Amino acid sequence: MSGVNEIRGTNELRGVNEIRATFLDYFAKAGHEVVPSSPLVPRNDPTLMFANSGMVQFKNLFTGVEKRDYVRATTAQKCVRAGGKHNDLDNVGYTARHHTFFEMLGNFSFGDYFKAQAIEHAWTLLTKEFCLDPKRLLVTVYADDDEAFDLWKKIAGVSDRKIIRIGTSDNFWQMGDTGPCGPCSEIFFDHGDHIWGGPPGSPEEDGDRFIEIWNLVFMQYEQTADGARTALPKPSIDTGMGLERIAAVLQGVHDNYDIDLFKSLIRASVEATGVAAEGDARASHRVIADHLRAMSFLIADGVLPSNEGRGYVLRRIMRRGMRHAHLLGARDPLMARLVPTLVGEMGRAYPELQRAEALITETLDLEENRFRRTLERGLGLLDEATRDLGPGDMLDGETAFKLYDTYGFPLDLTQDALRRRDIHVNIDGFQDAMARQKAEARASWAGSGESASAAIWFGLKERVGATEFLGYDTETAEGAVMALVKGGAEVAALEAGDEAAIVVNQTPFYAESGGQTGDTGVVLGDGFLFRVEDTRKEGDGVFVHMGRVEAGRIVAGAAVQLRVDGERRRAIRANHSATHILHEALREVLGDHVAQKGSSVDADRLRFDFSHPKPMTAEEIARVEAIANDVVLQNAEVSTRLLSVDDAIASGAKALFGEKYGEEVRVVAMGRQSDGNRAGRAFSVELCGGTHVSRTGDIGLVSVVAESAVAAGVRRLEALTARGARQHLVAQDRRVRDLAAFLKVQQSEVVERVEAVAEERRRLDRELTEAKKKLAMGGGGGADASAVRKIGDLEFVGRVVSGISPKDLKGLVDEAKKTITSGVVAIAGLTEDGKAGIVVGVTADATAAHDAVELVKIGSETMGGKGGGGRRDMAQAGGPDGAKAEAAIAAIADRIAAVVGA
Ligand code: ALA
Repeated sequence: MSGVNEIRGTNELRGVNEIRATFLDYFAKAGHEVVPSSPLVPRNDPTLMFANSGMVQFKNLFTGVEKRDYVRATTAQKCVRAGGKHNDLDNVGYTARHHTFFEMLGNFSFGDYFKAQAIEHAWTLLTKEFCLDPKRLLVTVYADDDEAFDLWKKIAGVSDRKIIRIGTSDNFWQMGDTGPCGPCSEIFFDHGDHIWGGPPGSPEEDGDRFIEIWNLVFMQYEQTADGARTALPKPSIDTGMGLERIAAVLQGVHDNYDIDLFKSLIRASVEATGVAAEGDARASHRVIADHLRAMSFLIADGVLPSNEGRGYVLRRIMRRGMRHAHLLGARDPLMARLVPTLVGEMGRAYPELQRAEALITETLDLEENRFRRTLERGLGLLDEATRDLGPGDMLDGETAFKLYDTYGFPLDLTQDALRRRDIHVNIDGFQDAMARQKAEARASWAGSGESASAAIWFGLKERVGATEFLGYDTETAEGAVMALVKGGAEVAALEAGDEAAIVVNQTPFYAESGGQTGDTGVVLGDGFLFRVEDTRKEGDGVFVHMGRVEAGRIVAGAAVQLRVDGERRRAIRANHSATHILHEALREVLGDHVAQKGSSVDADRLRFDFSHPKPMTAEEIARVEAIANDVVLQNAEVSTRLLSVDDAIASGAKALFGEKYGEEVRVVAMGRQSDGNRAGRAFSVELCGGTHVSRTGDIGLVSVVAESAVAAGVRRLEALTARGARQHLVAQDRRVRDLAAFLKVQQSEVVERVEAVAEERRRLDRELTEAKKKLAMGGGGGADASAVRKIGDLEFVGRVVSGISPKDLKGLVDEAKKTITSGVVAIAGLTEDGKAGIVVGVTADATAAHDAVELVKIGSETMGGKGGGGRRDMAQAGGPDGAKAEAAIAAIADRIAAVVGA
C-alpha cells in the first residue's frame, strides 16, 4: 500500500461543495428525485429530537402510509447527533471523525430497487465518479445475508476475503426506538498501512486504518414501540454516506477536520483568537468549528437556546463551544465572529443559513455574553472543588449540579472541563438532583398520543386523497362526506348529539396551520346540522372538521353544504394580514435580525413572536404601529401567487423555517415600499398558506396593545385590528372622556391636570407629615415653653408621641433641642402595633455629664428593650412594650435628677 499519494492528483481539487454536487448529480441521472434536506427539527415525528439521518423525512414512505409521485430520491441531509439515541457530543473535538452536525449523502428507493441496484450504484459512484481504487475498498454484510454477499462478488467483483460477515448491531440500522429499520452492508476505505488498525471484525478493528464511508441499509422492517418487528410492505433502500468522511478520503487526508471546509473554519478561529491550532488548543479549535455548524444550522431551523428539549441541546452545544473559546483566551464573544466564514462555505448549499445570518449572529452574541458572566466564576468553583483530586478521581454530583443550576454549566461541559485531568463526575449524584427537571422535559416529549390516531388519517389519505381547499376564494361550498370519525374510529353514521369529525372531499374551511386558527361554521344536509368547532389538517392533507351533530343523522357519502362563519373569518383575515405587515414594520424599525419565531392569529387578536434581544421602547412601538397603519391606508392590493421556492425567495420572501413546501409555494405580497432603494416593491412578501384580506384597507386599523418577553431573545407583540382595534380605542376614549368630566377640564388637558393633582398630593403629604410632627410636639409652632421643665439647672423636654413614624423621631428631637439652651430631650414614639421607639438628645455643653446612649438605654429597658445606640449627644432605641413609654421618660428624668443632685 503506497499511502495517500495514490489518490492525490485525480481528487485533490474536490471540495466539499463539489463532492456533494457530484453525488446528487449521479443519482439524479439515475432517475432519483433530488429532494432538499428536511429541517433539523423533524416535522413528521414527535419522538425524534433531530433529523439524525437521511431517511427521517421519508419515514412514512418506507412504512407505506404516505405516497409521493417519486419512488427514488437522493438527498444531502443536515443531521445533528447530540442527544437521544445517537449522541456524539462527548467525543467531538478529541477524535478524527465525531461531529455534532454533519451532512449525510443518501439515495433511497421506496419499494422500487433493492439490494442489487443499491450495491451497483454505490460501487459505480465510488470507483467511477470518485475514482477510488477498488483495491482499497472492502465491505461488510449482515452475518446471514448470503444474497448481499453474492451480489458484492458478482456486481463489484469484490473478493471473498474482502466481504466480511458481521452479526452485531453494527450491521443493523435503527433510526430510533421505533420506525423503519433493517440489516445493512457497509463500505470501508483502507487509509493505508501507515495507520494502525484492522478490518471490521478483526481484533484491531478499533484502529483507525479502515474507515466506514457508506452504509447501505436494506430497509425491511418496522420496529414498533412494543419491540416487535413487522415486515415493511415493500423492501426498500436507505443509504448514508457522511460527507465529511468521503471528503477526507477524496482529499487524501485521514482526519475529517483536515478537509477544506474545516480547515477554513479552523483558520477563522485561529485568526480571531490569535492562538495556533496546536497542542491543547487543537481540540478547542475543532470543538469550536464543529459546534459553530451545529448551533448555526439549528438556529436557522428555528431552534433557540432554552432550558428544555431541543433548545437545551442547542444550549449545551453553544456553551461547550463557548468554554473552548474562553480556553483559547478569547476576550470578546467569539462564535458570532465566525458566522460569516461558515455562511461563505455552506450558504450556497443551504440558503437558509444566509437568510438566518442576522438571527444566528444575534443569538450567538446574546448567549455568549450571558454565559461569560458566570463562566469564570463557575470555573473558579470547579477548580476549588477539584484542587485535591487527581487522575481517576471523581467530582461529587452536588457540585456538578450546583455548576449546572447556578452557573449554567451543562453536565457535559463540566465533564469536558475535567477531561484533560482525567477526573470524572459522579453522574448518579448529579442525576438525583436533576431528576425533577428531566421528568418535566420527558413529559413534553411524550408525543401527545397523536401517533396512535395518525394511522387513521394516513389511511384515509390513501383511500380518499387529500382534501381540496377552496377557502381562498369562497366561504361556502358543497361537498361529499368521505368519512365520519367518532371516538378514534371510522363509523358509517352520526346521530344527533355525537361529538365527531367529518372528512369531505373539498372544503372552504381553513384548517389550523401557520399560526392561523381553524375555521368554525356549519355543515348542513338533508335534515341535519353539524356545528364545526375547529378544523385541523391531519395525515398530510386531510381536512378534519371537528364538532357536534346538533340535529338529524349524517351518513357516509351524503352530500353536504359547508358554510364558514364569515364574520369570524373576516376578523381572522385582517389579523393575519396585519401580522405580515407588522413583521416587516418591525424589521424596518428594529433591524434585519427580526425573524418570526411564531405567531397566533385568531378572530379576537393577533400575537407575533420575533427575535429581538431587548424590550421595545414606547417610541419603537409607536413607529411600528405608524408604519403598519400607513400601509393599511395605502389600501394596496394583496396579491397571492404560486411560485417555485427559488422564485419565491428571489422575490423577497423569507422562508426561515424550511417549511415542508410542495413543488410550488404560495407567496403573499402586500403594500408598497414608499422610499429607499426598495421603492416600488411590495412592502411585505411572505410564503404563507393562510387567508388574507384583498386590500390592505380591509384591515381598517392596527392597534398594538402589548409587548412582552416570551423567552430569552424572543419578544411578543399583541395587536388588534379592524373592529377589535376600534372597540379598544373607543373604550380608551371613553375613559379619557369620563376622566375629563370628573376633573372638569377639556380632554386635551387631562394629562396636565392629573400631573397637577399628583403634584398637589405630594405637597399635601409633605405638609401633613410636618403638621403631625408639630402636633406631636404640643401643637404650636416653634418652642413650647410649657413643655420644658427644669431639673436643677438643666432644661428637660420629655414626651410621648404617637402617629409619628420612628424614623421621624430624630427630627423631632432635633427640633426640640433647638428650643432649649442646655439640657436633655427624650421623646418616645408609639407605633401602631403597640411598640415604641425612643430618642434622646443632649445639648453639646451637657454631654460631659449626660450621655444620650446611657439615658436611652434606661428608657429602652423600662419598656422591656435591650438598649440602643448612638453618640453622647443623640441616641436611639426601641422597646417592645409601648404602654411603659411614660414610665420610660420618667425613668430618664429620674436618672438626670440623680446626676445633677436635684
Ligand atoms: N440510515 C443509515 C445511516 O444513518 C443509512 O447509517
